[in-house]
Amino acid sequence: MDEDSKLSRKTLLRAALAAGVAAPVALLGGPALARTTVASGQVPELTPECHDGDEPTIAQTEGPYFKPNSPERTTLTGPGTRLVVSGYVFGLACRPVARALLDFWQADVNGAYDNVGYTFRGHQYTDANGAFKLTTIVPGLYPGRTRHIHVKVQAPGRPILTTQLYFPNEPRNNTDTIFDPRLLMTVRDSGGTREAAFDFVLNVPQTPTTTTAPPSSTTTRPTTSTPPGGTTWTVGTNYAAGAQVTYDGRGYVCLQGHTAQPGWEPPAVPALWRAA
Ligand SMILES: [Fe+2]
Repeated sequence: MDEDSKLSRKTLLRAALAAGVAAPVALLGGPALARTTVASGQVPELTPECHDGDEPTIAQTEGPYFKPNSPERTTLTGPGTRLVVSGYVFGLACRPVARALLDFWQADVNGAYDNVGYTFRGHQYTDANGAFKLTTIVPGLYPGRTRHIHVKVQAPGRPILTTQLYFPNEPRNNTDTIFDPRLLMTVRDSGGTREAAFDFVLNVPQTPTTTTAPPSSTTTRPTTSTPPGGTTWTVGTNYAAGAQVTYDGRGYVCLQGHTAQPGWEPPAVPALWRAA
């Protein structure tokens, strides 16, 4: 498998969307703006599902502090370090989901939830390109948890995904029993504001509009039950930042310390591992 084909279709589509070529009609032609298109000069085939690593975003507990009927707003205001979270909502065919509902709630800078009013609670909808943007603050810590943001995501007429988003390089990520690196945002500093990104993949069937290859006919994905050859990555091992492993014959470098768990294989969790 060459390097291009290892790239997530979602990643490529996200790049295309971010590049401002996000007209839905263009997307219906496929995430055809992928590097594979450039390389081959042809529109890549679509598969009915994201068999290239784009599993649906995992669910997590709602916790005790959700309140229904939050106001519709994209900006949550209060003291603290400004945080902008942006991303896209995709379905199983890696197409953006327009008008998906995202309902966010989080602690304030002191780690407290407003259970009387709606401070740091708000819902919004993705735009026609499946994009969302939340302006808020970095949530404070409270006992027993690492830093996180709660969210419910729902495509129109579909079940609700309840989950949480996490911050990289948080000391408590290693001790929080709920934390899952598959829900790590990418975060960078930008002039005093934290800019975070996360893309959701909902378990929403989508029908590709182009003729496709048979599903899962050619793509192989590593599984925990049958470790591929050339693998030194091992479940249960405590990896420190900078540690190097091989997985399926490829080298990876650990980006933050953690204990390896099933489902956290290096190709599946770019927040924890980058290709060497
Ligand atoms: Fe919480």
